[in-house]
Amino acid sequence: MNKGLFITLEGGEGSGKSVQCSKLYERLVQRYGDQLVIKTREPGGSTGAELIRKMLLTGEVDRWFPMSEMLLFYAARYDHWRRTILPTILRGGIVVCDRFFDSSVVYQGGGRGIPRKFFHAIHAMFAEIDSEHPFLPDRTYILDIDPRRGVTRSNKRISQFAEKDEKEDRFERIDIAFHEKVREEYFAVLEENPLRCVKIDAGQSIEQIHEDIWQDVETLLSGVTSPGSSHA
Ligand code: TYD
Repeated sequence: MNKGLFITLEGGEGSGKSVQCSKLYERLVQRYGDQLVIKTREPGGSTGAELIRKMLLTGEVDRWFPMSEMLLFYAARYDHWRRTILPTILRGGIVVCDRFFDSSVVYQGGGRGIPRKFFHAIHAMFAEIDSEHPFLPDRTYILDIDPRRGVTRSNKRISQFAEKDEKEDRFERIDIAFHEKVREEYFAVLEENPLRCVKIDAGQSIEQIHEDIWQDVETLLSGVTSPGSSHA
């Protein structure tokens, strides 16, 4: 069986993930075409998950209990996984995803205090229900940036693009200590997953960050041989 490739980008606020997702997506499309490559994001990436996105990213900081927030992220994620990600991987395609479960582990886990064992339990549940493919990215790039610099960058972008009521800045409005904790948790994720996760210095130029990611993606692609050439 020739399976596809599932790549995720992670990082704190203002780390430039979304720009890097687009650049990586465009370069992959140049090589494999837009039938084989998709770009998606979390929370969101399917019709139902985009509805949940609004509930999660707007409104008061304490709008949800940590556990409710975590379950909403996973409700969105399961829909996204089943409707968008898994079908693409199974037909041998390449998925570039802006955030995935590592975001929940660091924001709801590290940041909000939900114990790790709950994440392990949910992942095990999903893996048992859908045994066609592991519920796991093949590679995760973690863009590391000083939270003070990142949050300032991110707030600037949000105030340029959204009306007050529509602002998706519920997490950006949490205090800086929360974002420092998120960064520490990303370091822990890197340590726990040395084969899957790669740290990228997000303080570099956009071009240099892209080249660092691309160099590694090339090694992944040589392992997959030709994406989409045959299916299970
Ligand atoms: P978004 O507007 O997509 O911005 P960005 O990804 O560029 O920061 O915001 C998503 C927010 O949701 C972000 O602050 C991180 C948070 N988040 C979680 O707390 N848990 C999760 O599982 C995911 C996917 C995101």
